[in-house]
Amino acid sequence: MSITATTEPAEQAGQEHFDAIIAADQRIEPRDWMPEKYRRTLIRQISQHAHSEIIGMQPEANWITRAPSLKRKAILTAKVQDEAGHGLYLYAAAQTLGITRDEMTMQLIEGRARYSSIFNYHTPTWADMGAIGWLVDGAAICNQVPLCRASYGPYGRAMVRICKEESFHQRQGFEILMELSNGTPEQKQMAQDAVDRWYWPALMMFGPSDEHSPNSAQSMAWKIKRFSNDELRNRFVGMCVPQFEALGLECPDKDLRFDEETGTWITGEIDWDEFNAILDGRGPANTQRLRHRREAHESGAWVREAAAEYARKQRERDQQPIAA
Ligand SMILES: [Fe+2]
Ligand SMILES: [Fe+2]
Repeated sequence: MSITATTEPAEQAGQEHFDAIIAADQRIEPRDWMPEKYRRTLIRQISQHAHSEIIGMQPEANWITRAPSLKRKAILTAKVQDEAGHGLYLYAAAQTLGITRDEMTMQLIEGRARYSSIFNYHTPTWADMGAIGWLVDGAAICNQVPLCRASYGPYGRAMVRICKEESFHQRQGFEILMELSNGTPEQKQMAQDAVDRWYWPALMMFGPSDEHSPNSAQSMAWKIKRFSNDELRNRFVGMCVPQFEALGLECPDKDLRFDEETGTWITGEIDWDEFNAILDGRGPANTQRLRHRREAHESGAWVREAAAEYARKQRERDQQPIAA
């Protein structure tokens, strides 16, 4: 029997099963047949997401020792630890698709994988911790809540826990800004400056406009993605408008307007050249972020070696015959 004769019907049956699961809004699990492009798309998306969580620890960890009080240090430490956890759940989800964590790590530290452009900006003041929590984690929530229903089971389930933790991150950022905004004029100005720095980059986190986002349509057909980039971005802006008012801060988008017809907020022009430059590695902190990640990997080599050796000894011990 030829290979084609045996694989084709099997593949066709797999495809039919896959299509039926997607159509019924159920979940694809690691044991299920899936189209190769679906698998690759998920590996790319989930690993990029994991890398973003891990690299994203850097701009905030940078402030842990300088946070203004013991309470603020404890909160920021917990938040940064959460991000490490998010990275780990996501690497574990990607591993179910047939890639190893080592491969993903090498792709990142050799500059072959992408992570969110937002983490290539600097955090010069304490208020940046507020702006990151409020805007960056806030944008992440808008992007990620629909991913809890992603068609790939391990990804959707990882997102449920991540989203719960992200809402705490968003609240802690908002609270930092609220306190600064109600403080001295200098503190209020520091909050405004940080929001001015992070607002536009946070809008870019949703990715290019729908007409320039070639993979979006396929990801929506596969029910990995549920809403378009622009829909999510507009929803995020709509959430921010009353929060700007509550904070007593100005929105840096002077062209922001409410469209009565569609009932959504429409943003002013986004500087996509800046976004593309950062994606190409030319952002303010790209080199620093990757160098730091590479050094952390190298200095952790002894931990990995010790763990591997311990596992080898355990296996050896398990294989020894039990003494009579
Ligand atoms: Fe996170
Ligand atoms: Fe977060």
